[in-house]
Amino acid sequence: MKLKRESIGNLGNEEIIKYSVDNEKGLKVSILNLGATITEIKTIDRNGEFGHIVLSYEDEKNYIENPSYYGATVGRTAGRIDKGRFTLNDNEYILNKNYGVNSGHGGSVGFNKKIWNVNAIETEEKITLEFSYLSKDLEEGYPGNLEIKVSYEITEDNKLIFKIQGVSDKDTLMNITNHCYFNLSGDYKEDILNHTLKMNCDRFLAIDENGGVTGEIIPVNNTEFDFIEEKKIGQDIEGSSKQMKLGYGYDHPFMFNENEKGNVELYDEKSGRYMKVTTEYPCVVVYSQNFIDGLVLKEGKETKKRNGICLEVQYPPIGYNESFKEFSILKAHEIFNKETIYEFGVK
Ligand code: BGC
Repeated sequence: MKLKRESIGNLGNEEIIKYSVDNEKGLKVSILNLGATITEIKTIDRNGEFGHIVLSYEDEKNYIENPSYYGATVGRTAGRIDKGRFTLNDNEYILNKNYGVNSGHGGSVGFNKKIWNVNAIETEEKITLEFSYLSKDLEEGYPGNLEIKVSYEITEDNKLIFKIQGVSDKDTLMNITNHCYFNLSGDYKEDILNHTLKMNCDRFLAIDENGGVTGEIIPVNNTEFDFIEEKKIGQDIEGSSKQMKLGYGYDHPFMFNENEKGNVELYDEKSGRYMKVTTEYPCVVVYSQNFIDGLVLKEGKETKKRNGICLEVQYPPIGYNESFKEFSILKAHEIFNKETIYEFGVK
């Protein structure tokens, strides 16, 4: 296990530091104190060759704006909040509408744009990077001083364990996710349309023309949204359903089967790489990179649509008439605690 720290620039008068962990068993991960953002994950393919498996900007300065939220910790709430407002205990809270008519991914200056405190813990079997941040009462319009800790554990057996903890002094909303775009082909050799995806999700949530959730829950069977059995991402992505057209591809929350832990499996047959995600969250937003920001990727690669797939494990976003709001409510002094495990390998 190796840990390296390096300064990559400044945000105002704060230093941006990159923490790079190599487990010396086939997994390399780099994370910034800026946004607790994963900038690189490299794993080996069937032939033992390392390659990038998440979209990473060539120019690390792009993480300051990070328009596509590459690898970022997104919060206080991931996804869109209908019309950028919500009520809690009879108070109305108004958020910044940074996604057209909606608020999205924590608002104009979300957690992805903050410098977090970092504590690195090294043992023989794992390295844990703990990131903490205090989001003040009414930051981006959300009530309560919220103390957050996210940690990434890189283990000897090629797992990345992502833990989210939080506590607030007032009732608030909390729905943090990580926003990596995965591409298991290695150094973006191919897009993700030939990757297979499998998820124990029997329902998905309808969206509208603004990408917001309407409140309607749709069973996946006999739809283009059925990934109960493993299926190529590209198989139905150009389908003619209204929901596929509204999203310009997949950009929908999927609900895990009730009373089952969330399981998502992504596999690229050519390279042999797989990733298994296990989560305590009840939902995963699948986003097939339907829009691009034009910024250059590592190895000088041009970014293209469907280059990566986001698997944002979270609570369902808040839709029309505050549908699904209950999931995201964190009561004052209650402890928020969620764990997601990403396991990497080849087969
Ligand atoms: C959303 C997309 C959005 C992307 C970048 C995803 O999480 O679901 O609608 O375009 O983030 O902001």
